[in-house]
Amino acid sequence: MKYLTDSQLKELKIRLKWGIFERIKEISQIEGKSFNFIINELLSKILENIAVQNNSKDLFKEKPNLVFNKENIQLYHNDYLKVDLSEFSGKINLLITSPPYNLGIDYGKHDDTLSYEEYLDFTEKWLQKSYELMADDGRICVNIPLDKNKNGLKPIYADFVEIAKKVGFKYQSTIVWNEQNISRRTAWGSWLSASAPYVIAPVEMIVVMYKKYWKRLKKSESTIEKDEFVEWTNGVWTFPGESKKRIGHPAPFPTELPRRCIRLFSFKNDLILDPFAGSGTTLVSAFQECRKVIGVEIDENYIRIAIDRLNKLLQRQQILNF
Ligand SMILES: C[S@@+](CC[C@H](N)C(=O)[O-])C[C@H]1O[C@@H](n2cnc3c(N)ncnc32)[C@H](O)[C@@H]1O
Repeated sequence: MKYLTDSQLKELKIRLKWGIFERIKEISQIEGKSFNFIINELLSKILENIAVQNNSKDLFKEKPNLVFNKENIQLYHNDYLKVDLSEFSGKINLLITSPPYNLGIDYGKHDDTLSYEEYLDFTEKWLQKSYELMADDGRICVNIPLDKNKNGLKPIYADFVEIAKKVGFKYQSTIVWNEQNISRRTAWGSWLSASAPYVIAPVEMIVVMYKKYWKRLKKSESTIEKDEFVEWTNGVWTFPGESKKRIGHPAPFPTELPRRCIRLFSFKNDLILDPFAGSGTTLVSAFQECRKVIGVEIDENYIRIAIDRLNKLLQRQQILNF
């Protein structure tokens, strides 16, 4: 899919307006009706359409947390542990997420400073819920840190895999994401001494697991290119992280991460889930890759950011399709 720069978008808008003007002129000549008459007719059709859309919003009154529902994208503003997703039970083909890291990140609504035991308990709960939602040949790609370095060292990655196995998921592989974020560190431990040095790997993990069967039960259309398949089946992925400032979220992943997981591990039109959607990166990527997607996010500021991103994406797509 091609992206438009802001100046290309501006140019398109001008051309579009000119095109609409020309078209109305043409219709008014063919129909022998005034220019104003045609515009009024068009406006009343648009208003009728909006009324129909508003009525269809009422259909979701029993689902008050569904805050975005367009073009096979659903976003719920809720706690993942509480939101009712029972209609998708056994239907999710691929889960892609980066859960809260419990590194004291200020996520607004979510408390990211649980004790490590509480954090592992939360991990077990959300994995259990996800297990129910996955199809038997469904897969999960979970982006987590290797270690927790603040307030006592903990092997988050290793503990996560253990919990996921306890819940019932089967282990497939791990992708090491080299974020190229070699910030200057001062936490050396004992500097130039074997007394108590600290080793920190500047990488993140993407754990790949599945519910019951790794091989997909039904084949469908893959969308991965040959060179991508060759490169991405090598489990060390190198691409930069996303700018927190640009997105307005404290820990977004770049669209490249879900894009690779989606192309490598799912078929066209598959159903994707991100239980911790944040700024909506997985949703953006799933739409671009022609998959259906469900996201859940607890914090209303991030919900706003995600909705804004999705609306802009759909607008761009509409202009491209015009
Ligand atoms: C690491 S961030 C995900 C960032 C996302 N991948 C992106 O690109 O923007 C984790 C997100 O989980 C959200 N969160 C924390 N607890 C949650 C819960 N119980 N239910 C739903 N969302 C939650 C946080 O508000 C935060 O936005």
